[in-house]
Amino acid sequence: MEIFTAIKQDHDHQRTLLSMLEDTSGDSLVRKKYYNELKDALAAHAIAEERYFYAPLMKSDMTIEDSRHGIAEHHEIDELIEALDNTQFSDPSWLVTLKKLKDKVEHHLADEERAFFQRAGKVLNNSEKSQLADEYQQEMQAQR
Ligand SMILES: [Fe+2]
Ligand SMILES: [Fe+2]
Repeated sequence: MEIFTAIKQDHDHQRTLLSMLEDTSGDSLVRKKYYNELKDALAAHAIAEERYFYAPLMKSDMTIEDSRHGIAEHHEIDELIEALDNTQFSDPSWLVTLKKLKDKVEHHLADEERAFFQRAGKVLNNSEKSQLADEYQQEMQAQR
């Protein structure tokens, strides 16, 4: 497997969780369950991706800007998660912030999957692409 496929699988999981969360209401068990699942998925993914995708791509002039931009967006995502953590599930503003998070994450994933993956595809050789997928997946396991 290539690193792109491994990352894309986790992105799709994040998209599913975000859509399901958008349909939850108030202080419900479903909201709590999906939200905790989303937080874990985002946190593990950010660490694994920064270590086994961004870090090696920092070494190339062609992808250093994409990596820096991605890390900045990971921080923006963290801030929205923090805002959600500090809001009661029953507060109507929780869903407003969740929608902001959904837009932010969806934009970020699209950025990564389009321009960034394309440039990274030119920078990494085939053995690096599969090696990074293995390392990325091991890190994801370790984060669980
Ligand atoms: Fe990312
Ligand atoms: Fe990602």
